[in-house]
Amino acid sequence: MIISLFNSKGGVGKTTTCVNLAYLTSLKYKTLLIDLDIQGASSYFFDKKVKKRNLLNKNPSKIIKSTQYKNLDIIPADTKLENYKKGLETIINQDYEFIFIDAPANINQLTKDIMRLSNLIIVPALPNILSLRTYNQLLSQNLNNNLKILLNRVEKSPLHQKVIKAIAKLPKNQYFKNYIPKSNIIEAMSFDKIPAVRKSEKIKKAYMNVLREII
Ligand SMILES: Nc1ncnc2c1ncn2[C@@H]1O[C@H](COP(=O)(O)OP(=O)(O)O)[C@@H](O)[C@H]1O
Ligand SMILES: [Mg+2]
Repeated sequence: MIISLFNSKGGVGKTTTCVNLAYLTSLKYKTLLIDLDIQGASSYFFDKKVKKRNLLNKNPSKIIKSTQYKNLDIIPADTKLENYKKGLETIINQDYEFIFIDAPANINQLTKDIMRLSNLIIVPALPNILSLRTYNQLLSQNLNNNLKILLNRVEKSPLHQKVIKAIAKLPKNQYFKNYIPKSNIIEAMSFDKIPAVRKSEKIKKAYMNVLREII
């Protein structure tokens, strides 16, 4: 199953969600994380260098790196992807039960191909009404008909609860019933490079609930 994390906005939790979900599935299934965002945040998380090496023209077995976690491999980001034309199929057709793609925030040929080849697009979004607007704009572009919004950084505030209610008015296949709370442990991930789900049972449960909506 190929799952991409996408939103045309940055800073909404694409990388954070990608890393935690990929780590969780790797506890049971052979998992590959492909960092297709040239900013390379997922690569940084797993201490992999972002290189200019034209990965789409290389033999996939040469560009897949192992991580410190047993069933979790990664294809680090590649700055050459800026000039992307085509060739995603070969790296996506690898023998993994789960492939997570950390996608870039802009819509170009690469993102269109990512969307076309994915079984599911998770759209992480911050809990405000404008996020719904962005999500509707994405839907209207018909990039993939399995695009689901996932609220991230949710607090107990009345405003956030209002957004949850607004989201619940969408068709059921367009949103995750579970959401990810705002958490210092999640925020600390870019410092300690440890998936938050390894450090907190509460956070693990939140991501597991999301995963259960997928599997
Ligand atoms: N649930 C959360 N609680 C607290 N901080 C979060 C949460 N999700 C993401 N962040 C923080 O927000 C910032 C942006 O998240 P990131 O996953 O890098 O977004 P994106 O990949 O969409 O640009 C990061 O500093 C991250 O640590
Ligand atoms: Mg990112």
